[in-house]
Amino acid sequence: MRAMTVTPGKADSARVGAVGEPPAGDGAVLVEGLFTGICGTDIELVSGAFGSGRPGSDHLVIGHESLGRVLEAPEGSGFNAGDLVAGVVRRPDPEPCPACARGEWDFCRNGLYTERGIKEMDGYGAERWRVDPYFAVPVPSELGHLGVLVEPASILTKAWEQVDQVGARSWFGPKHVLVTGAGSIGLLAALIATQRGYDVHVLDRVVDGPKPELVRALGGTYLTDLDDLTVVPDVVIEATGAGRVVFDCAKLLGWAGVMCLTGIAPGPASIDVQLDALIRQLVVRNAVLVGSVNAAKRHYADAVDVLVAADRCWLERLITRTVPLSDWPSALVREPDDIKVVVDLRG
Ligand code: BGC
Repeated sequence: MRAMTVTPGKADSARVGAVGEPPAGDGAVLVEGLFTGICGTDIELVSGAFGSGRPGSDHLVIGHESLGRVLEAPEGSGFNAGDLVAGVVRRPDPEPCPACARGEWDFCRNGLYTERGIKEMDGYGAERWRVDPYFAVPVPSELGHLGVLVEPASILTKAWEQVDQVGARSWFGPKHVLVTGAGSIGLLAALIATQRGYDVHVLDRVVDGPKPELVRALGGTYLTDLDDLTVVPDVVIEATGAGRVVFDCAKLLGWAGVMCLTGIAPGPASIDVQLDALIRQLVVRNAVLVGSVNAAKRHYADAVDVLVAADRCWLERLITRTVPLSDWPSALVREPDDIKVVVDLRG
């Protein structure tokens, strides 16, 4: 069958690979791959910067943002043929560490976790894949192809949970939210913020294309210059990974403010900063910078709820390009108006 393959550690090795049927050991639920979303992690994988295949394999099937249709599922698994399903990305480390043992693989303590399509496990970018029912997320049929947004949305439901948990150390009633970066992660962060009733401001570099309008459609304010921000943010959801942006926004955090870092910028770009003023600001305001990666099972279920509650037309506009599997490497080449590019695994 065809799959989206790369040779881990080798740049420009993205291919439409011919691979064997998914091994039974991957799980009892056999799925027809429908769509997989492309994100910055995939672009880094293809650059050879990181990623590893199954032990003993010289290639890796990538694709960790998934949507498929169940072909076969054992009785009692909770799934039936025809159901839409998304796969969980991370698997607990084999030890397991105390966090993984509690289902908190997103907080794995020894780094021995594996990830579908990223680290030591083939991903979901194939015509067929298998998954253990425990790591399969039911996607309501009403979401249709938009179910491919469940995994990226899970990154944000976890991030918002981090914000809530840090906030819970004292009275916490956030009003003003700043989101940095209006890619799919930033826009999904903004979507959740508006669903929570917050006043939302989104910062991005681009002045035209779909992003400004998507923010306005949420009732948010779109900015291209931080100097135009008219409020003191109680929460910042950071989705650029750019040192300069992180530093400048951290300085703006209000009293007991929480900034959640969800992005990593590839490459060596570093900035020299004077940390002392920032330290003072963070200390005297009890402000917090918290990193957040991956998601546990409950965050996927929360993500489904977020997407079901969202305006369908708005979600449709997040998917700006669909590329057939036969031409999937073209999904890796960023086009100016790209937000979320997805690969149609039947094409
Ligand atoms: C994925 C996460 C994963 C992380 C690091 C992200 O793109 O969404 O699930 O943990 O990459 O590998």
